[in-house]
Amino acid sequence: MKKILDALSEEMGKAFEAAGYDTALGRVTLSNRPDLCEYQCNGAMAGAKKYRKAPIVIANEVAARLAGSKVFKEAAAVAPGFLNLKLSEGFLLTAVEAMRTEPKFGLEALEKPRKIMIDYGGANVAKPLHVGHLRPAIIGESIKRISRYVGHEVIGDVHLGDWGTPIGMVITELRERKPDLLYFDESYQGDYPEEAPITEAEFAEIYPLASAKSKEDPAFKEKALEATRRFQKGVRGYRALWKHIVDVSKVDLKKNYDSLNVEFDLWKGESDVNDLIPEMVAYMKEGGWAYISDGALVVDVKEETDTKEVPPCMILKSDGASLYNTTDLATIMERMRLYAPDEIIYITDKRQELYFEQVFRCARKTKLVGPDTELKFLGHGTMNGSDGKPFKTRDGGVMRLDVLVQETKDEMYRKIREGREMSEEEAMEVAETVALSALKYGDLSNQAAKDYVFDIDRFTSFEGDTGPYILYTIVRIKSILNKYAEQGGDLEGLTLLEAGGSSEKELEMALVQFNTMVRNAADEIAPHKVCAYIYDLANAFNHFYHETRILAEEDEAKRRSLIGLLALTRDVLETSVDLLGFSAPEKM
Ligand code: ARG
Repeated sequence: MKKILDALSEEMGKAFEAAGYDTALGRVTLSNRPDLCEYQCNGAMAGAKKYRKAPIVIANEVAARLAGSKVFKEAAAVAPGFLNLKLSEGFLLTAVEAMRTEPKFGLEALEKPRKIMIDYGGANVAKPLHVGHLRPAIIGESIKRISRYVGHEVIGDVHLGDWGTPIGMVITELRERKPDLLYFDESYQGDYPEEAPITEAEFAEIYPLASAKSKEDPAFKEKALEATRRFQKGVRGYRALWKHIVDVSKVDLKKNYDSLNVEFDLWKGESDVNDLIPEMVAYMKEGGWAYISDGALVVDVKEETDTKEVPPCMILKSDGASLYNTTDLATIMERMRLYAPDEIIYITDKRQELYFEQVFRCARKTKLVGPDTELKFLGHGTMNGSDGKPFKTRDGGVMRLDVLVQETKDEMYRKIREGREMSEEEAMEVAETVALSALKYGDLSNQAAKDYVFDIDRFTSFEGDTGPYILYTIVRIKSILNKYAEQGGDLEGLTLLEAGGSSEKELEMALVQFNTMVRNAADEIAPHKVCAYIYDLANAFNHFYHETRILAEEDEAKRRSLIGLLALTRDVLETSVDLLGFSAPEKM
């Protein structure tokens, strides 16, 4: 099915052509005066100069050609030369029917699907996820789902930070606590136990402590750096401990991501490219790109057109150690070899923008990626507290992600129990589902690059531009459909009639935007467009619902038509929230 605006523009283009003007002038857009018209075309204004005619003259001529149009019920030329348009109910019905019968609501297949890798989440081994990890996880997951839905081949990779000092800190603390562990005995040659020498709980407690010690005690910090060098170099006991820590940590991270409905196709990490680094370094040296500066190995990446200073990309530190840059570049090399993606999208805090600019330039300059592969960076803004500063716990600390999720669930649970007859167990389950919508919608409804304020009261409200409001609308529709079925209504073989009233027509007009909206959201990497769409759709539905007798409609054919429209609305809303990474309960 054609995108609605394309279909309208085609009809309008024909009218321009028939009146003797350029077809391209017939571009139709959504109305910016919904009180006056549904759609509009400003082509007569645009063509005035070229044809040396007053815009209103052109508009009048074009409007005359649309007199018997099956698409537009009304095309009015208004001063100084706009064309104000209203759709015919019949045409709208055809579009709605196409949505009901074609796969993916009639979304057109992509001409050229791409292979896209999305690098998101940003978790680091040994460190528990904190609120700063919420955004890249939620945004990345949604972008993955949207891109996949429109037909791209998508691979999501968590790209774990599993090669850095936090692990060295944990090992050092462990050594202070249990110096007799086999892993620290350098003369030991045998195998190490399969079982980790540390439980999940112990692990959760060790990291914050070790990290604090590292900050206060230089000697501890030196030991942690030494431990890091050891596991990186492959000292047996240290490497074995490293592996245990990575494994224990992954279990915990997976649990956290699961609870957010975030799923990665790949659980690769920085460590996976360890063996590639020497090869990459040699390649960069041989190519003449990498050179020694102040003992470190660097690649220049500044460009003449730069207006700000872009420092060289450091490949190896003066002590030969690798850095964040090194693993990212080697990962690009690996990704090109294993997956040859057309595009890699990185989602992190926007403070990493310059860093990624350096990495991308370096990858291009050294030809780790060819001209056919796009590297994109999507930097997200900060989630702030009500004071406008990065979100903190009440006592000013960094809040763990699981704590934030739990607090949102608790608040949702409280609201759900209020004035509802629901068992504790059921309310708990519903609260879990709805809380996720509160968190995710609260985040995704903002443009990713912008900061936003985490406002638990607003996010968990059943009214306004919120996740719970959307879910509430879905549940409302489901309950009407259930009632219809209980009353003996058949949900199969429904046929739609032309829209009867204005709110029904508005609902249909909101529905038929789906196609355009998903494509835009995918092309522009913009989940907030899905939110804006479902908010409009939910509003249109609720307006329609308040104005229309549905189950009480006496005319059977009419009633069945309304039910069909409801079912479509439910399906479109449920598909859309799935693109955002949450779902609706049966009741709430
Ligand atoms: N682990 C990193 C951090 O905490 C984010 C990883 C982002 N992805 C990447 N390929 N560098 O900042």
